[in-house]
Amino acid sequence: MPKYGFRQHFEGWEEFKKRPIGERLPVFFKDGRIFDVLFSQQFDRTFLDSLYDLTNRIRRIAKSREGARWLHDLHGPRRAMLYFVQPSTRTFLSFLNACHILGFYTSEIRDPQTSSEIKGESPEDSIRTFSSYVDLIVMRHPQAGFAEKTAWLLNIYSDRPVPLINAGSGSDQHPTQALLDVYTLQRSFEQRGGIEGKVIALVGDLKRGRTARSLSYLMKNYPGVKLLYAAPPGFQIGEDIKEFLSGQNIPFEEHDSLASVLSTADAIYMTRIQDEHDERGESQSQYEEFCLRKQDLARMKSDAIIMHPLPRRGEIDVAVDKDPRAMYWRQERNGMWTRAALISTIFGSDEEIRTQGQRFLV
Ligand code: CP
Repeated sequence: MPKYGFRQHFEGWEEFKKRPIGERLPVFFKDGRIFDVLFSQQFDRTFLDSLYDLTNRIRRIAKSREGARWLHDLHGPRRAMLYFVQPSTRTFLSFLNACHILGFYTSEIRDPQTSSEIKGESPEDSIRTFSSYVDLIVMRHPQAGFAEKTAWLLNIYSDRPVPLINAGSGSDQHPTQALLDVYTLQRSFEQRGGIEGKVIALVGDLKRGRTARSLSYLMKNYPGVKLLYAAPPGFQIGEDIKEFLSGQNIPFEEHDSLASVLSTADAIYMTRIQDEHDERGESQSQYEEFCLRKQDLARMKSDAIIMHPLPRRGEIDVAVDKDPRAMYWRQERNGMWTRAALISTIFGSDEEIRTQGQRFLV
């Protein structure tokens, strides 16, 4: 019987986590620069524009052998720990490859049964141990709020804090997914006046889907956006997100069918049912009505785009993949580049990439 979850009391944490987010954020910045990446609320428009400019540059620089070598040498040899104790394919692989593009050596734990957590070491002590060996921790964890807790812990308790990136925390947030989603929206709407003023429909399990939550927070940076939430009963977006949107004067509507948002949306963001968070078997067959089929395409705008954080099941029929509006495979690849830009920004090499890297732009 594994002895996971040995509980430790860290003085100050309970008080800290009760504070409003605006009061907590400064702990995760250092010298005016982002240090830990935990929530979408950390990103403002200046940060996003700068990150996406850097993403474009890194993509282009990495195309040539000389540019790729330069990027690699600029950051290396640093070390990153990928602690992914909740299943992941693309977030794990895109971070791993982003690290390699930037010359980071990487280590990983994907199953706590192979670590000293099996002997009863707390996950908090595991994270502190990683910080003894590496310069960056990227974490996916099933527990909402765990990434914030351990980032706080390293900053407050440790004499060797290293940046920590939340790569998905329970049903709470997935901030780097939101970064790549917005990058995908921006590229897709480049010739159509940008993201501003667009209608974005989020479809599926919005209650537990952390990608929809994190993306919603980012929309405050794009004036005129309207959000349409289409979900089966019991799967609608949370009250906390609705309160946030109302506070930011972001218009939104709730819908109970996919059909009712198809013809008005500029972007349709499909999501999967999140039954790994399903405690009472509430996932049910009515979800099938929230699936995009080939016959639905004719009802969409001709220049709309279809997104999905993936993995998918049946929410998007494979017959849709060939439609030029299907953006999800490109969206997935965008993750590697935005994450490389994010890591470069955290480590302060963004300016050098903009100036010295200019000569490698392809
Ligand atoms: N989009 C996403 O988080 O995918 P993975 O679960 O495969 O990492």
